[in-house]
Parts: sequence; C-alpha cells; structure tokens
Amino acid sequence: MTTPHTPRGALIAIEGLDRAGKSTQCDLLLKRLNSSGIPATLQKFPDRTTAIGTTINSYLTSTSHLDDQSIHLLFSANRWERRDSLLSTLTSGTTILLDRYIYSGIVFTAAKPKSPVQPPNPLSIQWCKAPDIGLPRPDIIIFLNITQEDAEKRAGFGDERYEKKEMQEKVRRLFEELRGEGSNDKGDWWVIDAGGTVEEVAEEVWKGVLEGLRRVKEGNGEVRSI
Ligand code: TMP
Ligand code: MG
Repeated sequence: MTTPHTPRGALIAIEGLDRAGKSTQCDLLLKRLNSSGIPATLQKFPDRTTAIGTTINSYLTSTSHLDDQSIHLLFSANRWERRDSLLSTLTSGTTILLDRYIYSGIVFTAAKPKSPVQPPNPLSIQWCKAPDIGLPRPDIIIFLNITQEDAEKRAGFGDERYEKKEMQEKVRRLFEELRGEGSNDKGDWWVIDAGGTVEEVAEEVWKGVLEGLRRVKEGNGEVRSI
C-alpha cells in the first residue's frame, strides 16, 4: 500500500534504432532490478495490446495504410492511454522501464519524406513533439547506439515498415539532433555503445539505471512532465 514514505519509482526510457537490442536489454534489466530488491515493471511502446495498439500493429506490418499525421497521433494516444497507470505505478514505488517512448515517436515521424507542402512543415520535430507534451518525463533516457551495419546484421531486420536503410539513417541523424537540441535538460541522455556483447552492454545500461535511481532519490519526489 502507498504511504507518504514510499519513495516513488524511477521512470527509465530505453531508446535506440531498430535492432539496437532494446528489448533484450530491457528483459535483462527487469530481472536484475527485481533480483536486487528494486520493484520494477516493463512498458513497451507501441503497446500493441490495446485497441489503438492493434491499429498501429496493422500499420507497421503494412496490412493497413494511414496518413503520416494520423499514425503519429495514434502512437501518441497509445502513450496517453497508459499515462494514469504509469503515474500510479511510479507513485506506488515501482520503477518503470520504457522500451521506447516519445523520442522514438518524434524521430520516426520526422524522418519520413516530406510532402511538398507550404510551411509550417507538418512533420517538423516541433509538430511531432506537441501531442506528447504533458506525458510523464523520464528520469533518464538510455540510448543504445548501434551502427547501421551492425543493425542490419541482426536477425529480423527489414521485417517491418520502418526497417529500411534510408529511413534508419534519417532516424539516426534525428536522434542525434534531439540529443543535442537542448530540448532536454542537460544530462537526460545516457548514450551507450550497443555494439558490444549482450553482457557488456548490460553493464553499461546498469550504470545508467543506477544514475536514474540516484536522481530520483535526490529529487523532490514529483514526476516531471514533458
Ligand atoms: P518496436 O519494434 O519497438 O515494436 O517499434 C515498432 C516501430 O514503431 C519502430 O520502427 C519504431 C516505430 N515507432 C514510431 O514510429 N512511433 C512511436 O511513437 C513509437 C513508440 C515507435
Ligand atoms: Mg521492431
């Protein structure tokens, strides 16, 4: 039961390109947190288990088509429908690992080819970010950095809509832009070389998690907003 003395959980986002190893690392991390006595849970985005998530899944697997703006807003809505549960889980003292979050949301849409329209550009970073304003803000964003060559070698690459070389290169540049943009407080991003072995990467990820937990301990207990 929640008491005023229960410290809140940390909100930790894991981000990166497709096939960077996010899901593998999230699974390992969840086990490590729980075996260290830190209650933790995993929330993956897109969450394909909801009605909105089902629509997103059929778009990603190319069984349906949607215009770029509509699918963008659905990805955001898919986060909003989990907002209350994210906040109550954090308040109850459980740490949440996010397997992708708003940062993937921004860069994957902004990476799409622009239609020849007049400004304001409907797929600008600013436009892409707007629907997520107000969502809970992570205490740390752990970014798994992988080269395009390594990503392409990994099993399953190319299965889904966005897993194309040109798209991934744009996504990489936009992630760099976002990390350097100052749209986040200094130090929000924890960048890791994800080209090593699973164990090596896990050690680096763990350091990022400890930093996230430290920030929560030193904070005022409130969950910030995007
Ligand atoms: P997944 O492979 O982690 O399930 O993600 C599916 C794809 O969806 C991946 O290519 C990234 C993309 N994506 C968006 O375009 N917008 C979003 O908001 C999110 C969370 C993912
Ligand atoms: Mg994928």
